[in-house]
Amino acid sequence: MGSINEIKASELNTDAFINEKAQEISDAVGDGLAINALSGGVDSSAVTMLGHRALGDRLKTYFIDNGIMREGEPQRIAELFKQLGVHVEILDGRKAFFSALKGLTDPEEKREAITQTFYKDIFGKLVKDSGAKYLLQGTILTDVDETIAGIKRQHNVFEQLGIDPEQAFGYQIIEPLVQLRKDGVRKLAEALGLPEEIYNRPPFPGPALAARVIGAVTEDKISVVRTATSIVEEELSSLGAFQYMAILHEDRVTGMRDGKRDFGSQIELRCWDSIDAREAKPTQVPYEILYKLANRIVDTVPGVVSVTYNVTCKPPSCMEAI
Ligand code: XMP
Repeated sequence: MGSINEIKASELNTDAFINEKAQEISDAVGDGLAINALSGGVDSSAVTMLGHRALGDRLKTYFIDNGIMREGEPQRIAELFKQLGVHVEILDGRKAFFSALKGLTDPEEKREAITQTFYKDIFGKLVKDSGAKYLLQGTILTDVDETIAGIKRQHNVFEQLGIDPEQAFGYQIIEPLVQLRKDGVRKLAEALGLPEEIYNRPPFPGPALAARVIGAVTEDKISVVRTATSIVEEELSSLGAFQYMAILHEDRVTGMRDGKRDFGSQIELRCWDSIDAREAKPTQVPYEILYKLANRIVDTVPGVVSVTYNVTCKPPSCMEAI
């Protein structure tokens, strides 16, 4: 495993980087096919544009609908890329992900189930069927650092853990963004012609809403956290915070509704100020916004009787709850 030379955002010459990486991708793939998965996050969006510059139609881009994305996300992202001239195929993988997650409560086991379903079951089959030998993906340096440090295994890091993707899954992985951190990728995404909605998009984790359900992940729990997420994103997007989220707790608490006891669910809200996700502080969200948010959630999201706001820094907290 070679060490990775970091390119800081301030030193990044986007034109030179785009030319160099497009050439590397083109040299590696030759006249063959490559595939990639687009989630709509800035990393996978930048890789999609870079890959299409290098390979044109020989890069097949898929949006894997794993059932744990936000409201309407697969269709919205496919439409956005259509406007940019990139065809994205939506693949329905919902059943596979929910059955792999069934009964798992441990965070790392949940991550592992998502990783295996994504890379082995879905991509293993896609690669075999398409004849592609390469998967392009948007791993960045922070993913590698945190995985090596044992803080949290990012779903997209293999080589640094001693896993050979070719042996494990049957294809090679190309990672053109691995020298960059998030701020560098945002600069690159803008230079690649992506809209601001994408290059300034708050990060969203690979394990998606499953990272925001504490304990076992079910379709019902995902639906609760998905509705709460839409409300949180609507109410907090204007604050300019680094990331904001709703988390569904496993424990239930006593509440009351219509004069009767209601033993219901708890949602925890988190909103972070951060530069690169390595350290973060809770945003000082105005109380009126929090109050409105809490009321909207208990009024709209079935079964929720308690909403709290996290005021702990990272470290020792993490940004996500699992
Ligand atoms: P944590 O929770 O580690 O989050 O403080 C730091 C940043 O990383 C994102 N995150 C993930 N992204 N796979 C991902 O692709 C993961 O397993 C994962 N866990 C956390 C998180 O959303 C935050 O931006």
